Amino acid sequence: MTSQSATDIRPLDESAELLVDDPTWWRQAAVYQIYPRSFADASGDGIGDLRGITSRVPYLRDLGVDAVWLSPFYPSALADGGYDVDDYRDVDPRIGTLEDFDELSAALHAAGLRLIVDLVPNHTGSGHAWFQEALAAGRGSRARERYIFREGRGEHGELPPADWESIFGGPAWTRVEDGQWYLHLFATEQPDLNWADREVREDFLTTLRFWSDRGVDGFRVDVAHALAKDLGEDLPSAAELEAMPQDGDHPLWDRDEVHEIYAEWRRVFEEYSPPRTAVAEAWVGSAERRARYASPQGLGQAFNFDLLEADFDAADYRRIVTENLAQSARTGSSSTWVFSNHDVVRHATRYGLPPRAGRPGKQGADWVAAGGPDDGIDRELGLRRARAATLFELALPGSAYLYQGEELGLHEVAEIPDEQRQDPAFLRTTPETRSADGLGRDGCRVPLPWTRGGASFGFGEGGAHLPQPSWFADFSVEAESEDPTSTLEMYRRALHLRRELQGAETLTWDDVLAGGEVPAGGDVLSGGDALSGGDVLVFEREGGWVCATNFGDAEVPLPSGEVLVASGELGGADDAADAARTLPGATTVWLRR
Ligand code: NOJ
Repeated sequence: MTSQSATDIRPLDESAELLVDDPTWWRQAAVYQIYPRSFADASGDGIGDLRGITSRVPYLRDLGVDAVWLSPFYPSALADGGYDVDDYRDVDPRIGTLEDFDELSAALHAAGLRLIVDLVPNHTGSGHAWFQEALAAGRGSRARERYIFREGRGEHGELPPADWESIFGGPAWTRVEDGQWYLHLFATEQPDLNWADREVREDFLTTLRFWSDRGVDGFRVDVAHALAKDLGEDLPSAAELEAMPQDGDHPLWDRDEVHEIYAEWRRVFEEYSPPRTAVAEAWVGSAERRARYASPQGLGQAFNFDLLEADFDAADYRRIVTENLAQSARTGSSSTWVFSNHDVVRHATRYGLPPRAGRPGKQGADWVAAGGPDDGIDRELGLRRARAATLFELALPGSAYLYQGEELGLHEVAEIPDEQRQDPAFLRTTPETRSADGLGRDGCRVPLPWTRGGASFGFGEGGAHLPQPSWFADFSVEAESEDPTSTLEMYRRALHLRRELQGAETLTWDDVLAGGEVPAGGDVLSGGDALSGGDVLVFEREGGWVCATNFGDAEVPLPSGEVLVASGELGGADDAADAARTLPGATTVWLRR
C-alpha cells in the first residue's frame, strides 16, 4: 500500500457538506475507535502517535466512516493504557504535541470526519498534579478533598476502610505514607476523584471547553456511571455492596445525582455550534437506566452493549434491536450498536467459539486464557458470522461504533507472552487470583498490520509495543485492498452505501420475506417478541433498503430485490437472476426493492 501524507488530503465536496453545522450528525454516525498507541507509529519508537493517525486520514476517509473516536492520548504513566490521565489538557510526549493534535483535527475535518475524544472523569492518574499535591499536603488538607481519602480500620488504621476489591482485582484502597487510604475502583495508579468537590467539577468544565475550543466535536465519557458516590464514615462491606440494588441509590454505581453533573456539561456543549456531543460508557442495570445518560438534557447518547453481549442468534438480535429502538424513540436519543472495542475479545473470535463461552461481555476470555488453542475455535465461522453481524449492524438506525482492526476481520491475538502483557488486570493479579478475563485486553490492542511484511507490518519502523503474530500478513490493509472479497472491501462498500441509503431512524421487520407469518402489528415499535422467521431476520428501512440475515446453517431463498452488498458469497449460480439465488447460513445481504 502506498501511504499518503496528510498534505494529500483534499476536502471532498460531499464531505464539506457533511461538516456544515448539522446538530444531528451524531444520531446515525459510523464512528471508528482508534486506540492511538496501536494504530500507526510515525516516530518509529514502537508506540503509535498522532502523526501516525494523521498520515492515515486518507485511509479513514476512504473507509467511509463519519467520525473518529480517539482513546486517551493524554500524558499518562500508562498503568491502564492511558485511562490513567496525568493531565487532561495536553498530549503525551510519546504520542505527540498539541500542535500534532491540531493538525490531526484539521486533517480529519478537511476529509469530512468528526472527532470525538475520550474523557476519563472518574479517576486521574497518580501522576496528576492534584494527586501529587494531595500526597504531599497530608491528611486534612484541601488537596485531599479532591480525592477520596479515609482513615483505615483496626487499632492503628492498618486495615483498609473497607474490604472492597478493585475492578482489575486486588484491593480498591491503597495506604499512603502518612497512614491514610485512598479509593481507586480501578488500578492503584487511578485514584478516584471526589465529584462532590466544586473545584473538580469546574476543572472538567474547563477541560470540556479546552477541547471544544480546539474543534473537538464530541466526547466519549469513561465509566460515566461512577462519578457520584455516597461514602459516609461507615462503609458497607464488599458483600453488602454487592447485595445492594443499583436503582439510583447504590453508594458507588449509577446514582441518580450523577445526572446533575451531566446537566452542567450539557450547558457547556450548548455553548458551541453545532453543540458538542457525548456518548456515555455506563454499565447499568437496564435499558431504562441507560436512557438517563442518553437524555438530551444530559450526555445525549450512551453505549448499548446488548449486541456485544449476545450470541449470534436471530431471536436475541431482534429482541435487542426492537427494545433499544423503542427506548431511544421514547427518550429522544438515538440507538448505538457495538460489537468490539478495546476492552473485549474481538467479535470475529467470540463468534468462532461455542455459544456462551464465558460470562456475557467476556466471551472468549477462557479461550485467551488457555492460550488460544486452535481446536477450541472455528476461525472461519467466527469471521463469517462477524461479517454478517457487522452488515446487520450497519443497516440499523442509529450510530455504529467500530473498533480499529475489525474492518480487517482481525481475530484476537492470544499468543502474547506473559512478560509482554500490559493490562493492569493481568499485572494486578497472580495465576492463583486471576480469573480468565484478567488476561483479556492486550489481544485486541496489538498494533495494526498495514502491509504484508516489513517492519511491524507497516505499523512503524521501530517495532510494535505488543507482539504481532505472523498471520497478520494476510489480514493487512495491503493484502485486503487487493482482494474484492476481503472484509475490508466489504466494510468500505457497506459504509459508503450506508451514507447514501441512510433515512429515518426506524425500521420495519418483514416476516414475509423472512419466510414466516406476519405478526399482528408486527412493525418495529410493537412487534418486539413476535419473531416468526426462525433463523432469518429481514428488516426494511425507509426508501426500500432491505437487510436480510440468515443466522442458521441451512441456506434459504434470497428475498427479492437488487443485491447491493453481501457479507459472504451468495448461493445459486453466479449468473442466475437474483430471484434464483440463495442466502447461505451466517450471511447478511443488503437489497434494494
Ligand atoms: C473503561 C475503559 O474502557 C477501560 O479501558 C478502562 O480500563 C476503564 N474504563 C478505567 O478507566
